Amino acid sequence: MSDLQKRIEDAVAHPRNLGEMTDADSVGTAGSAGCGDMLRMWVKFKEDSSGRKVIDRATFQTFGCETAIAVASVATELLSGKTVEEALSMSGGDLSAPLGALPPMKIHCAQLVESALRSALEPQPAMPEAVAALVKPADAAHSAPSPTLRDSFQPRDSSGGKPQIIFKKPSA
Ligand code: FES
Repeated sequence: MSDLQKRIEDAVAHPRNLGEMTDADSVGTAGSAGCGDMLRMWVKFKEDSSGRKVIDRATFQTFGCETAIAVASVATELLSGKTVEEALSMSGGDLSAPLGALPPMKIHCAQLVESALRSALEPQPAMPEAVAALVKPADAAHSAPSPTLRDSFQPRDSSGGKPQIIFKKPSA
C-alpha cells in the first residue's frame, strides 16, 4: 500500500471536523459534474488577537469518495486561523497537501473540497429585488437553519417520505 493510500485510509478511519455545524456563519455546497459526488462545508469565524476575522473552525459532510473525505478532513484542519482571503487563495492542491500528491484521476476530489470552500466564503451575488420579493422570509438562506447534506435530499412534497440512498454495486 502506498503512503498516499495509507494517509487516505487513516483520514477516512478518523475524519476530523466531520458533521453539520449548527451555529455556522457560512455554508457552501459543491457537486462534481464528473462523478456526481457532493460536499458541504460549514465555516465559523472568530476575531484573532490582532483583530482580524479568521476561520475558527470548518466542518464538512459529503456523499463522496474516500479521497474527498480525506481531503476535506485535512483541509478543515488547515483552514483554522486563516483569513477569508488566505483561505480563498488555497487551491485543491494546497488543501490536499498533507496527504501528498494525488494521482490525476483524483485531483477533482480535492477540487470538490475547494469548490465547497469557495461557495461558503465567496459573497453571493445580490438577489434582484423583484426576485427577493418572491422569496418568503422562511426560505431565505440566512433565516433558515443550515440543513445537513442529507436534508437536501428530503422530498419537497408533503408525502413525508424519507430520502432513499442506494449504494452502487461494486464493479466486478
Ligand atoms: Fe468524485 Fe472523488 S471520485 S469526489
